[in-house]
Amino acid sequence: MPPLVRPLPADYPSIRQHLDALEDTLTGASNRDPPLPGSPLKFRRYNPKIRRLGLDWPSTAMTMVGRKRLHNFRKLVERVIRGNVPGDIIETGVWRGGASIMARAVLDAWQAGDRKVIVADSFEGLPPPSPGQWPADEASDLHTYGELAVSLEQVQANFERFGLLDEQVVFLKGWFRDTMSKVESNRLAIIRLDGDMYESTIDPLVHLYDRLSKGGWVIVDDYGVIPACKQAVHDFFEMKGIRPRLRAIDGIGVFFRKA
Ligand SMILES: C[S@@+](CC[C@H](N)C(=O)[O-])C[C@H]1O[C@@H](n2cnc3c(N)ncnc32)[C@H](O)[C@@H]1O
Repeated sequence: MPPLVRPLPADYPSIRQHLDALEDTLTGASNRDPPLPGSPLKFRRYNPKIRRLGLDWPSTAMTMVGRKRLHNFRKLVERVIRGNVPGDIIETGVWRGGASIMARAVLDAWQAGDRKVIVADSFEGLPPPSPGQWPADEASDLHTYGELAVSLEQVQANFERFGLLDEQVVFLKGWFRDTMSKVESNRLAIIRLDGDMYESTIDPLVHLYDRLSKGGWVIVDDYGVIPACKQAVHDFFEMKGIRPRLRAIDGIGVFFRKA
């Protein structure tokens, strides 16, 4: 593990408090935001254990990743800042933007003005499966959920609500198969994959992994619950001839470091 060369700022206790409160707000824990009625897992009421694991889709809160995966993202952003791992941070699959908002908030709190947060999404939901090209996606019906289509304007408004919409946030609209080759950053410190399909996991990996700095991190949000995502990750490892150590977050998400 690389040394953490940057010390904690003197006001870290207040930074921590601020980011803890933001975790509560972004996940909807602070107002016990009930689940969306139309989501595939039929939870009816707010349940802190379910929300902690990100197993439901909140009605109005900004992220569905749950407290543990949101915290993991926050800590990895802090870790790349402290470890001087160069590069920007990209999330592929942002929904209402909550996890990316957390990444931008960490940069803000640490006064890391030299990194961007790249927010990549169709802003129209998931693509219909292309089973001819990606057989693992054959059964996916997530493209039928209108709840997963959140417009670019809405996501920008969500960043604005937290005072975090500025030039350090770059929006990349379109299908990953078209947009990943257009990512402008040559160096990335964190790639957070949250596209819920084989296609939506492999496309970002293929296009972005070579730009990930040594010591940088890949997070796979749905590794434990969507077999197609898991398969995409292992097919990619085989393609690259790598066997990184997968670290568990919450029994659902995993992350690994580029050696
Ligand atoms: C599960 S949601 C992401 C959740 C989000 N990370 C959060 O913090 O709540 C999946 C998102 O991925 C996007 N998506 C999935 N596959 C995509 C693709 N191939 N191209 C573009 N966007 C895609 C969808 O539009 C949706 O916003």
